[in-house]
Amino acid sequence: MKCNAAMKYVIANLKMNMVSLEECDHYLATLKHEWQDISSQNATCIVCPSHMYLDRFSRALPKSISLGAQDIFWDIRGSYTGETSPLSVKNIGASYTIIGHSERRQYAGETNEMIGAKVTVALKNSLSVILCVGETEAERDGDMTGQVIQEQLQKALADVSLFQFRKIVIAYEPRWAIGTGKTPSSHEIMGIRVLIKKLLAEKYGLEEAAKVPILYGGSVKHALMKEVCLDAGMDGVLVGKESLMPLELKKIFEVLA
Ligand code: PGA
Repeated sequence: MKCNAAMKYVIANLKMNMVSLEECDHYLATLKHEWQDISSQNATCIVCPSHMYLDRFSRALPKSISLGAQDIFWDIRGSYTGETSPLSVKNIGASYTIIGHSERRQYAGETNEMIGAKVTVALKNSLSVILCVGETEAERDGDMTGQVIQEQLQKALADVSLFQFRKIVIAYEPRWAIGTGKTPSSHEIMGIRVLIKKLLAEKYGLEEAAKVPILYGGSVKHALMKEVCLDAGMDGVLVGKESLMPLELKKIFEVLA
């Protein structure tokens, strides 16, 4: 799936918040109800359940919603206990995968190099990539945001060709804003957007960089959409907690649809 900033994106990261088929089915039924009269040429919604429930979601998601994984491994097959192959994710019906989410960096010790390897294998196996970048609170306080993002992007895209690059969406998610209720100002977010575009233009050229969708993530809710997305010139949002409530997800989506 090609990605383009002419399209707006709402990505629902359900994280590890559903732990039974009953919970999944309840969520899916509510989502279906909320989505019954939604159709949009301008915006796309991608729902990312945990790996365990990808199949369930693949069968029951409303047709206009795409399926994504929350992570994949950097190889497609082999002796990797507990890992999930990008191919199995693709074969079960997902078109996207999140890579480099800050919770993977924090709890699973993922480095920029590992994230780069995952991006490469995902793209090779026809998954579009939602690549997360962002600084910690300490890095922000130390005025290192620009440097951190530059390094994250450089390593994640080290082996990505121009052709493959067209299947990437970048999500700027300051770690200190995730699940905390804190958000940067529109001005700060816009500054990061400009920085990301500049870094991408250096590698892929201005025209290509202009087409990459750049999203904001971290404590997004409907009431904040103007500030964190519209006023900041972002191409969409990555939503955690609020995406667990289909009505809230719909309200967010309708701002961009
Ligand atoms: P949040 O999560 O919306 O709950 O802050 C966002 C994310 O982790 O992607």
